[in-house]
Amino acid sequence: MSTTQALRVAAADRLELEIGRLRTDFPILGREVNGKPLVYLDNAASSHMPRPVIDTWEQYYTTIHSNVHRGVHTLSQLATDAFEHARETMRGFLNARESREIIFVRGATEAINLVMHGYGRAFIGAGDEIILSAMEHHANIVPWQMLCKEKGARLRIIPMNDAGELLQDEYHALFNEHTKFVAITQVSNALGTINPVKEMIAYAHERGVPVLVDGAQAAPHAAVDVQDLDCDFYALSGHKMCGPTGAGVLYGKADLLNRMQPFQGGGDMILHVTFEETIYNEIPYKFEAGTPAIASAIGLGAAVDYLNGIGMNRIAAYEQRLLAYATDRISAMPGVRIIGTAKHKAAVVSFAIDGVHPHDIGTVLDQEGIAIRAGHHCAQPVMQRYCVAATARASFAFYNTLDEVDVLIDGIRKVQEMFS
Ligand SMILES: Cc1ncc(COP(=O)(O)O)c(C=O)c1O
Repeated sequence: MSTTQALRVAAADRLELEIGRLRTDFPILGREVNGKPLVYLDNAASSHMPRPVIDTWEQYYTTIHSNVHRGVHTLSQLATDAFEHARETMRGFLNARESREIIFVRGATEAINLVMHGYGRAFIGAGDEIILSAMEHHANIVPWQMLCKEKGARLRIIPMNDAGELLQDEYHALFNEHTKFVAITQVSNALGTINPVKEMIAYAHERGVPVLVDGAQAAPHAAVDVQDLDCDFYALSGHKMCGPTGAGVLYGKADLLNRMQPFQGGGDMILHVTFEETIYNEIPYKFEAGTPAIASAIGLGAAVDYLNGIGMNRIAAYEQRLLAYATDRISAMPGVRIIGTAKHKAAVVSFAIDGVHPHDIGTVLDQEGIAIRAGHHCAQPVMQRYCVAATARASFAFYNTLDEVDVLIDGIRKVQEMFS
């Protein structure tokens, strides 16, 4: 075993010992569903909030709630301080150079739409090409399709192999003088694949092409360093990383954000308005029109404090243990097939059971208290690639346990018995 592997094992060991205590931070994990203890394995869709995040939310509303950036009164200043503190927390979490590179949005979807409107509509035109991968979430497909329709540009798609790994040679071959933008996911929500985005970004940059990374499934599960990745944009959703719904982040390099046009117009994004013209505010406010989701952003900051308290490297190491155990057990089951077997994966296991529709799998497991996702996971092109209409998907967070994997396995057996 190498030193790095030994360190990973030690990190996973230490966290495994603490999981029982950490789980008590999550009130919802103590509830029952259909008379059975909840086994929550739908974290790729949305994860749960620990008590410190819920308390921060409540404290905000009970002690300082007020609108930000506009008031001279005490509460407004306190709310503004807390909101800007959350921005600084997110800067640290992503290791961005400056906090003005952190824009609060509703989630990854809004972040990507912001880039499409702010960058795409300004800098991508007729005949230009945008490279996406075959495993994108609809949030990283549809906005670019809309742009192509409007501008007469076109999408080029990086294909993947049967394991769900992007074909790097094919990626390289897609570049030509028309290539203007790359938008790729760091981790596939449907397959779990971890893409080599750092290398892919470097390749695009050598050709002068900016890259957006969809980090919705990556940021909750491992340390992210946007300077090390050198991505131009990075999108994430707070509710997938133990934060509240309604808050996410778009990171963008300051020089690009400065050159972009605003996404929405209204309060906070202006310096001066007359009926003749508007002078826009500086970044990040230029992209934060209207009253932001103040409590959600502050809650997201608290969620990141919580995750940092555990340690992203320990979370990553422990989740790899959950993934390895779930993969071993599920792949040993006759009649069950895992879809997405990339060498580098996050803790997402999509699977199919012979002769059973994924919705039936989800329904029977729900009777056992097990929450998984059944459907196309907003990644219909992935389903088309594997010639399935849907999959069942178990997606893990650090608060899941090896025992819960065993409960899932028993549940899958029940499904097979019922439909045999
Ligand atoms: C990879 C990926 N990108 C984007 C999104 C969209 O996130 P949201 O719905 O929070 O905007 C998701 C949500 O599942 C996702 O998995």
